[in-house]
This record gives sequence, structure tokens and C-alpha cells, in this order.
Amino acid sequence: MRPEKINVQEFYNRFGWQKTPDGLFKDTVAWVDLRPLLLPYYRRVRNRAKAFFKKKGDFFLDAGSGGISYPEYLEYAQGFSKQVCVDLSMVGLKEARDKLGERGLYILGDMTLLPFRDEVFDAFACNHALYHVPADEQLQALRELYRTLKAEATGVITYTWPFSPISDWIPMKNKSRLFGLVKKIFFSKTESGPVLVEEIPPLYGHPHPPSWFRQVLDEVKIPYTMRVAQLIDPVFSRALIRENVWGRLLLGLLAFLEDWFPRWLSEKGRYPFIILKKQSTDKTDS
Ligand SMILES: C[S@@+](CC[C@H](N)C(=O)[O-])C[C@H]1O[C@@H](n2cnc3c(N)ncnc32)[C@H](O)[C@@H]1O
Repeated sequence: MRPEKINVQEFYNRFGWQKTPDGLFKDTVAWVDLRPLLLPYYRRVRNRAKAFFKKKGDFFLDAGSGGISYPEYLEYAQGFSKQVCVDLSMVGLKEARDKLGERGLYILGDMTLLPFRDEVFDAFACNHALYHVPADEQLQALRELYRTLKAEATGVITYTWPFSPISDWIPMKNKSRLFGLVKKIFFSKTESGPVLVEEIPPLYGHPHPPSWFRQVLDEVKIPYTMRVAQLIDPVFSRALIRENVWGRLLLGLLAFLEDWFPRWLSEKGRYPFIILKKQSTDKTDS
């Protein structure tokens, strides 16, 4: 196996899908701003993806399922006979099995080489996993996800953009005195939420920009659309969202913008949905 994949596998087996004394995945505590104020906003983001999937079917593929971090991810596949979890991490798959039991099928495998025949899945989700695939194999993973999708079915990839005009100005502004003053006036100090006491081990990730997706998906003729999933990341929320009326207003505004301008904001936020819809064989051939 390639060193990047060994790194990802070991990270998730030894760290990411291990739990803190509070019973939270270390992966979640490491990368998510877990303050209670943000939970309704995150739920709204995750529930948004549901609208793209069929309501029911036979097989739902969860590519890079890991331990299935959030209950909303289980809801995506509720109307399906089986949720098929594929992951490089055995520890993650065991956690998934604890949640899904008999409703799940668990495959220790690589999404760049899916051990399934063509057109078996009625839907797939690939949440925050594709950017952990080696940069030069991500197209292969997209082809596999598309190959195994049934005609007229839809799959959703939740990805991260390497640059977000909304979130990426925060680290720069954080250093400015004016920004510090504005923060002091409008945003009182707040609790940080659960934090890890240990250091986060290195983890391979390579997010491609939107232009890469446009180019490669057009080249291989995979039909896709992009929508915003979440405008902000933890750097933004930790810097600007406080547990007060201003914080709530800002989150409400962000959620409103995401709901009403999903296409326009698809390349401006931190996390997009990349949606693949398989054309029926008739349409592809004509
Ligand atoms: C950030 S976690 C996301 C887990 C889950 N989808 C979620 O959002 O809660 C990334 C997961 O992708 C898995 N992964 C990374 N590369 C993979 C690959 N090539 N094939 C299958 N799984 C992979 C990792 O092992 C890890 O469990």
C-alpha cells in the first residue's frame, strides 16, 4: 500500500477512531468546533445532503464511513435495505458496526478499487474522506464511485476546498489590531468546548481546487453539480463566533445564505457538496 494510505490507515486506527474519556472520537475533537452553540448549525449542514438522495432503495454506499461520526449520516440510508461501509480502518468499521449492526455491511477496502460490480448502489455518500485519498488517485476514486452507482441514482461527496475567501482571511486579520478591537467590542470571551490534551499526529490530506474537479470530471464525462455545504471552518468559528446574541445572529445569517444561494456559494465556502448523478444508459449512449 502507498505510504499516504498507510499514514491515513494508521492515523484512524491508532488515533482518529479512538475515543476520549468523554466518549467522543478523537478525530471529531481534533477537527470540529464542538461548542454547543454550533451544534444546530452543523446539524442543518449535514441534513442538507439528505435532499439529494433517493428516499429508499437496496444498497447505500458509505465510502470512507469510518466510525460514522454523526447520527445524521445514519439517516441518509434509513430507507435503504443495507448501508455498505467501506473504509481502510478496521477500528472505524467496528465503530460503524456498533451503530448499524445488521443493517450494515462492512468492507475493509479502498475506495479507489471498489470490490463491487457496476451499477449496484442506489446512492452513495463520501463524507470528508476523498481528500485523504492520494492526490493522483482521487479521480480513480470518483470513477469507482460513479461506476458502482445505478442509473438515475445520486451520490454526494462532502469535500473541503484548499482556499475559501470566507474563512482564509481570518488568520491574516487575526493579527491586525483593528480586528482585535472589533472582536473585543462585539464578541465576549467564550468557552472553547472539548479539547484534546494530546498532540494530533500527522495525517495525509490533499484537497484539490474546484478547477481540478471541473477539468477532470468533464474529461471523463461524469455529470456533476456543486453546492455549498458549509461556508465556515473551525478557524473562522473559533475566531468570530461567540456564545452570545452576535454569535447566534452570525450563524443564522450563514445558514440562511447557504440555504438560499447554494450554487452561487458552492466555490466560496470551506466545504462543498460535489454531487454525481448517473445518467441512464439510454442517455449516455445517445
Ligand atoms: C475524516 S474521516 C471521515 C469519516 C466519516 N465519513 C465521517 O465523516 O464521519 C475519513 C475516513 O476515510 C477513510 N479513508 C481514507 N482514504 C480511504 C480510501 N482510499 N478508501 C477507503 N477509506 C478511506 C479513513 O480511513 C477515515 O475513516
